[in-house]
Amino acid sequence: MKRVQYRRYGGPDELRLDEVRPPDAARGQIRVQVRAAAANPMDWKIRRGEMKMLSGSRFPRGLGHDFAGVVEAVGPGVRRLKVGDEVQGATTIRQAGAFAEHVVADEKNVWVKPPSISFEQAAALTLVSVTAWLALMAKARLKAGQSVFIAGCMGGVGRSAVQLARMRGAEVAGSCSACEREEALALGVSEVADYRAFDIAPYQHRFDVVFDAAGALSLGQCSAMLKRRGKSLHIVPTPAKMIGCLLSSRHHLVFANPTPQALAGITEAAEQGKLVPAIGRVVPLSEAIPAVVELERTGLPKGKLVIVPTR
Ligand SMILES: NC(=O)c1ccc[n+]([C@@H]2O[C@H](COP(=O)([O-])OP(=O)(O)OC[C@H]3O[C@@H](n4cnc5c(N)ncnc54)[C@H](OP(=O)(O)O)[C@@H]3O)[C@@H](O)[C@H]2O)c1
Repeated sequence: MKRVQYRRYGGPDELRLDEVRPPDAARGQIRVQVRAAAANPMDWKIRRGEMKMLSGSRFPRGLGHDFAGVVEAVGPGVRRLKVGDEVQGATTIRQAGAFAEHVVADEKNVWVKPPSISFEQAAALTLVSVTAWLALMAKARLKAGQSVFIAGCMGGVGRSAVQLARMRGAEVAGSCSACEREEALALGVSEVADYRAFDIAPYQHRFDVVFDAAGALSLGQCSAMLKRRGKSLHIVPTPAKMIGCLLSSRHHLVFANPTPQALAGITEAAEQGKLVPAIGRVVPLSEAIPAVVELERTGLPKGKLVIVPTR
């Protein structure tokens, strides 16, 4: 089978589309024929060696985590999923390898794809919507009528967060590039700030929840924006944020470890059409490497880059 992989941490030049033996599903794992996979910033952060503590030192390493496809083999101990199920999910950071014709993942990180959602949409939603759900619904326990500020509201995680917050009945403000202002308003962000000219002054002490989906705000800025009992959520950890979140009960780091509640909530929202990904570009596996490298270098396309092995 074909798989995008690399033999050492480094720049985009390390990436190759190689022919490899399809992986076996070990205990608790399933093997999926990939119909669509989606790119995330962590794909190149890992390739650069920025997450070595989590990604380890075994090579060659596959690229990509989010996928949707059809279960073609199950390992011992797999109970919930069976061969032929249409599923979506994510590999762990250590496993990776979704930009391939076949991928192996833990059963607990894979769930049945709603029939009304395409493989492309499902792959594009996986990691970003799990992250947004865990931040807003699980950690912040966002309620109807509350106010939330989402920094990076037009990114992958940000768009999911806006839609989930609106679905919950919260009032949403957020920051994004000026060129995405109209799209943000249309998605339900009632107050949109240009992040390149962001001034905290009009936002002081107004929010029940601040979700920094872009790694753009300091804990001090979040404190200034929050109401007295408000919470801030962070998904781009820095040493300062890790320490600050450890020492504080109002600032929290969130990591995208899917829970059954998150998966059920996301699936229901997607089925109801309340959680819809923005897909910027769809490419075949043979064009995955230049497309991912362009996304890494330029931030384009806006919207998710989806890779389709069977095209
Ligand atoms: N902790 C976790 O488990 C977890 C899970 C998922 C993602 N993440 C991390 O979260 C971050 C966002 O992920 P993503 O998939 O949403 O990435 P993305 O799709 O690239 O979105 C990032 C967005 O942030 C915007 N942005 C850049 N600088 C900003 C600033 N200073 N203020 C406000 N917005 C700004 C970008 O706008 P422009 O493109 O217009 O510049 C873009 O829309 C990444 O660093 C990713 O690695 C962490």
